[in-house]
Amino acid sequence: MYTHEGMSDRSRQRIKDKIELLREEQTMEAVQEIIEFDKTPAQLKAAMDQFIIGQEKGKKIISTAIAFHYKRLGGALKKALAENEGDIDLALRNTKTPRANVLMIGPSGCGKTYTSEVTSRLAGVAFVHEDMTRFSEVGYVGQDATDILVDLLMAAGGNAQVAQMGIVYLDEIDKIASEMMAFKDVSGRGVQKGLLHLVDGTENTVQIGKERITLSTRHVFFIAGGAFENLRGLVGQRMARQGFQGDWRDHLLTDDLVAFGMERQLMGRFPVKVVYDQLTTRDLKDIMTRSADSVLLAYSNDLKAWSIDLEFTDDALTEVARCAEREGTGARGLISIIHRVLLEDMYRLPGNHTGPFVVDVNDVRERLG
Ligand SMILES: Nc1ncnc2c1ncn2[C@@H]1O[C@H](COP(=O)(O)OP(=O)(O)O)[C@@H](O)[C@H]1O
Ligand SMILES: [Mg+2]
Repeated sequence: MYTHEGMSDRSRQRIKDKIELLREEQTMEAVQEIIEFDKTPAQLKAAMDQFIIGQEKGKKIISTAIAFHYKRLGGALKKALAENEGDIDLALRNTKTPRANVLMIGPSGCGKTYTSEVTSRLAGVAFVHEDMTRFSEVGYVGQDATDILVDLLMAAGGNAQVAQMGIVYLDEIDKIASEMMAFKDVSGRGVQKGLLHLVDGTENTVQIGKERITLSTRHVFFIAGGAFENLRGLVGQRMARQGFQGDWRDHLLTDDLVAFGMERQLMGRFPVKVVYDQLTTRDLKDIMTRSADSVLLAYSNDLKAWSIDLEFTDDALTEVARCAEREGTGARGLISIIHRVLLEDMYRLPGNHTGPFVVDVNDVRERLG
């Protein structure tokens, strides 16, 4: 019999070596992929379009920022690797790339987090999502900066080099505005200063088991997002004062974000600003019928396995979209609404029905009523 205990030292060592080798190969592959990054902004955007509906202008800006960042980083690393005899750690340390981090502004559920996640996946880099409200509760960025690095390391499958080239999404950044925190006993200013170090490129050592790993955020691409609720009003007031006319989004300045309560220095680290629109009824319908991640399409596929052809009439889709709009959470509400509409049928139909199954506007109203 072959048991673990019965394994010879030699076999054990061979397995260990093999695993180590595999890990090294994976590391090289993942790093190589970033170094070889060759998507153009237009290619990246075309891929984003399969998932993210609407937000045309925003998607253009983001795909450009990300494609340029990774193309530049890849090129710089390639050069550094040639100079440093293939030592990736050394190459990472010796590489300097200017970053054009992105600030995303837009109402709840319009796709800010989703865009960051999808784009990271399409770019083939590690991604983490960090909620800034946790800083507004404690009032400082200390241990958390290290936590973010650990999260990145996890997202990169434990690969430190891949982690250091990932994307960090700082969600609800508006919640650490000084004004927002004024009513609490903590200063948003302090939190923002702490964040500044992280975005600039801090180096921290993390202890994972017996291993000590040094990680830097120098090459990490940061995206910060928030609803910035009264920002539109602030910009509008300034435009009126200065006699400007037009769309507030085209006039947004760092000054306005400072008036909102953000630190000028921190905002300076996010030179690329993107304003996402509130999703329209049309967008919400398209999300259901066209986005590659659509729950409706997923359910429809599930039902096909039982030979049931699910179909929503156009009016039914409009009704679901309107219902989501009333909830005021953008596309976020769609999933639960669709689920509520289909729950009974998904239980009842398999085994009892085959062929077309049409859901019309009355069905939707009845089930949501
Ligand atoms: N423009 C969009 N296109 C496709 N799906 C979207 C879009 N916006 C939101 N969604 C869907 O709604 C969910 C919530 O959106 P999210 O990106 O978290 O919103 P927020 O802007 O508040 O970060 C996403 O996971 C996604 O399924
Ligand atoms: Mg979000």
